[in-house]
Order: sequence, then C-alpha cells, then structure tokens
Amino acid sequence: MANVPPRIAEREFPHFRRAGQVAAQTLAHVASRLAPGVSTADIDAWVREDTARRGARPSQLGYHGFPAAVCTSRNQVVCHGMPRADELLRDGDIINVDVTSELGGWHGDTSATFCIGDVSDEARHVVETARRCLEAGVSVVRHGAHLGDLGAAIHAVAREAGCEIVRDWGGHGIGRQMHLPPHVAHVGRKGTGLKLKAGMAFTIEPMVTLGAPDTRVLADGWTVVTVDGRWSAQFEHTVVVTATGCEVLTLR
Ligand code: MF3
Ligand code: CO
Ligand code: CO
Repeated sequence: MANVPPRIAEREFPHFRRAGQVAAQTLAHVASRLAPGVSTADIDAWVREDTARRGARPSQLGYHGFPAAVCTSRNQVVCHGMPRADELLRDGDIINVDVTSELGGWHGDTSATFCIGDVSDEARHVVETARRCLEAGVSVVRHGAHLGDLGAAIHAVAREAGCEIVRDWGGHGIGRQMHLPPHVAHVGRKGTGLKLKAGMAFTIEPMVTLGAPDTRVLADGWTVVTVDGRWSAQFEHTVVVTATGCEVLTLR
C-alpha cells in the first residue's frame, strides 16, 4: 500500500465525526472515574460498557489478538499497556487511556494521560509537555503543509521542555480502518515528507519521555516501555485536513 492516507469525502464527514465523538465521550467518561484504587481492568470494563451504550464497538478488542477494549499505559509504559485486574492506580501515578471506537464502519482514536492524586513535578511536566506537543502538531496541519512540519513542531516543543520524543511508534492514517497509511512521525524536518491534502485523515499521538526515547516491548508481546524506566506521557487526536487547517474529530 502506498504511504498515502485515504481522503474523506464531504458526505462521509458526519459519519466519521460521530465515531470520533464516541471515542472522545468514552474517554471523558473514564476520566471522570479515575482515582487511586481503580484497576486498569475496571477501566477496560467501563470502556466496554460505555462504548456499547453508545451503539459502538471498541476497535482495539481482538485487533491482532489484543485482548482488551482499551490500552492503559501507566508511568514507564509508553503505549499498548494491557489492562489487568491486579494493576491498581496509586496516588502519584500517571496513566494514558487510549480509546478507539468504531461506529457505522468509521473509527475514532483518542487518548490522554491523567495524573492520579498528587504527582511529582517531573511527572506533571512530562504530561503537560505531551499535551503541548499534540497541540503544536495539530496547529500546523492544513492543506499544503508537509508531514515533516508536524514532526518538527512537535519535537521543538519537547526539546525546549528538556524531554524526548519516541521514534519507534507514531500516528497513522485512520477512517474505515483503525490503522491505515501513512506512518505519522513525531519528529521531522519542515518542508519534507508527504504533502497534506484536504480530506486526509490521520492521528497525531506524540509519546514524550523524561529520559531517552528508546523503547522495548515486554514478553507479553504488547506492552511498550522505556528502556531506561523513566516515565512517558502521550495524548492523541484524530484529525481531518481542511483547506485552512484541520478538524479535530475527537475534541472533548
Ligand atoms: N489506539 C492505538 C493507537 O493509537 C492502537 C493500539 S493497537 C492495540 O494506534 F491493539 F494495541 F490496541
Ligand atoms: Co490510540
Ligand atoms: Co492511534
């Protein structure tokens, strides 16, 4: 497959938008219930219930054998953390909850990292930096921009904050499937890479680390952690390119 994202037709927008809103609303629902003592399996149950209530399906469940409806990535886990009954949130933790919902054949993908109780200054810093990295990426998307512009903007924010950007994983095209081309790198050089056109849809989901950006996958085949064990944070939106900017389909 060419490294080009699908282009969404005007008449498809409302359907795609609805899927994005389901993911955003389910994420907001989970966010309101996070507290010390909650298990990541509880989060999985809430995502299943809330997604079903909205007439949608969790896209991640069964995806290449992924056993859960949501990814829950805590502290040094970068992404693709698997919910577990014996993993309890504790005061001081940070946790990314990544929700992908399918409605009417369209997928919306969004995540946020939450602080549980009183977190350290450096934990708060990596979370705030990751949030600002996503904003920086979203702000440069428009018809005629290059994918490298996004990476450059995101990386600059991370660097100025003394943080790093994960290279091993990135964003992706999205629409009638959860994962489509292109690969969306969160580092890059301005004016390079794919030229964006109105109607292209993809995710922006920078993973930001306090230490080195190197990652490895645990023996479970899914959980991605930092090699140095330092903490990592991530935020994700699904966007569609428009003539003047982009529409964020997963705004909460
Ligand atoms: N929602 C994740 C992403 O942002 C997808 C993870 S695939 C899974 O791309 F199988 F781990 F769920
Ligand atoms: Co996601
Ligand atoms: Co994604």
